[in-house]
Amino acid sequence: MQTKRAHHLPWRRAGNLADNNLSADDVVRETGWVFNNETGNDLTLKEFVDTGDKEVQRYIRLLELGNINFESSTLLEIGSGIGRMTSAFTNRCEKVIAADVDSAFLERCRQTVARFGRIDRLNTLHVVNGRTLALNDNTVDITFSYITLQHCQPHDALELVNQAIRVTKSGGTVVLNFRTWVLSDVLLVPLGIAMRSLWKVSIVGPRLARWRWSTRFGWQANRLKPDTVLAKVAPQLSDIKIFHSKKRTLKVFLSSKNAIKVIPTNRINPSHWWLVAQVS
Ligand SMILES: C[S@@+](CC[C@H](N)C(=O)[O-])C[C@H]1O[C@@H](n2cnc3c(N)ncnc32)[C@H](O)[C@@H]1O
Repeated sequence: MQTKRAHHLPWRRAGNLADNNLSADDVVRETGWVFNNETGNDLTLKEFVDTGDKEVQRYIRLLELGNINFESSTLLEIGSGIGRMTSAFTNRCEKVIAADVDSAFLERCRQTVARFGRIDRLNTLHVVNGRTLALNDNTVDITFSYITLQHCQPHDALELVNQAIRVTKSGGTVVLNFRTWVLSDVLLVPLGIAMRSLWKVSIVGPRLARWRWSTRFGWQANRLKPDTVLAKVAPQLSDIKIFHSKKRTLKVFLSSKNAIKVIPTNRINPSHWWLVAQVS
């Protein structure tokens, strides 16, 4: 069963396109832009997965994750989509759980991993209500999420952060990507709210949610500052690092019994930041 929330519409629409007999390359040409913003009639699944491989490598380096023993780890990826980065994770980790709000994406994710990764290491998990992970406490060693929490309503995003910490073993690592405020949000945020309201209008709305321009206005459903997230979860974490773009400042005012390191980093989008921390 799929949820009926407006901010899930673009995923449902892209999921419907993926849920047919199109070839994997055609799915990337039709819907690949919802994952990596690339469009074109010549795109292939291979090129699409290559972008995920590079980003996995890049973020392991930028976010100082090189010391993690991926080979003996179970990794949960929240918002796996059709497996752009999941293949790379299955090639590195003992086990991977790919979780997504859209079940058709998960089916395509299995196909992607079967071609480019290790299908014997993959399980999938449908996040039916967009906020609860049907996994036991202390199940995984690493929880990773990229360009996904920004697409959830704030309370859903914060609940997914709670859930990520709940299912990650003590001593395990959470690596979570968020979007925060930039100047252009003065226009983008009200436009996004207006667009999501339009998506709810019958007949017109679902059609509108198919268009790339409309989707790009409406699908970012929150801006979360590090303080907002940390206020909820810092007591459950240690070795907290906040990575953000060198092109901006990002203050953390919250004081925690464990020092919070704020690390300006190259090659992070100025509107993004990452929470990397150990679960206590
Ligand atoms: C921009 S895509 C990124 C996918 C993947 N991380 C990548 O980089 O290719 C966002 C993904 O998050 C999923 N998503 C959105 N809201 C979600 C939620 N509440 N719970 C789980 N997945 C969600 C969407 O279906 C989509 O696959």
